[in-house]
Amino acid sequence: MSIHIEAKQGEIADKILLPGDPLRAKFIAENFLEDAVCFNNIRGMLGYTGMYKGHRVSVMGTGMGMPSISIYARELIVDYGVKKLIRVGTAGSIDPDVHVRELVLAQAAATNSNIIRNDFPEYDFPQIADFKLLDTAYHIAQDLGMTTHVGSVLSSDVFYSNMPERNMKLGTLGVKAIEMEAAALYYLAAQHHVQALGIMTISDSLVHPEEDTTAEERQTTFTDMMTVGLETLIAD
Ligand code: HPA
Repeated sequence: MSIHIEAKQGEIADKILLPGDPLRAKFIAENFLEDAVCFNNIRGMLGYTGMYKGHRVSVMGTGMGMPSISIYARELIVDYGVKKLIRVGTAGSIDPDVHVRELVLAQAAATNSNIIRNDFPEYDFPQIADFKLLDTAYHIAQDLGMTTHVGSVLSSDVFYSNMPERNMKLGTLGVKAIEMEAAALYYLAAQHHVQALGIMTISDSLVHPEEDTTAEERQTTFTDMMTVGLETLIAD
């Protein structure tokens, strides 16, 4: 076991879906995987391994924010040998053309976090998705008829920003949405030469605050996003 994951070696597949919410990991295991077995309950950060269409895959919560996902993703990669990591989460749109329920594939992630700056203070080291995963996910989402945007996101340390206008300004520069994890995941993938992608459903819009979703709509779009994530994980 590692410090934050109690799985034994071999209990975690080399492909993993990473929702922020551990209960969403449980939902995916119960609704998408066959023979799912729980491998982690430390801090309630549930993780499961099971079969999806004949392929062994895992799913585990990461918690919210870059410090949290960095801990779990690093242990999954370094201690358990995970090679493909797909984050599935929500994001707030800062692009007037990106609406709630639509999908954003995070081609790149800007960040206001120090997580990368601490290591490279003199460079703007870009955090990018694995192209193969991105390309595969895009085509799967298109085939499922989902409205899909590809572009950069802002991975923010702050959910309740006191300076929302600064974040919104990034929307005028092509950044599509704000979330809180992708940049750290991409940085870890770069360090350890593994593949990572962030797939986000827009849950709220900072430019169209009146846009809303019912609980049922949210469930359907999140379910669609999980299908895109799982199909991308098992594609070759
Ligand atoms: N900001 C950051 N993360 C988010 C948001 C947001 O507005 N919406 C969903 N995740």
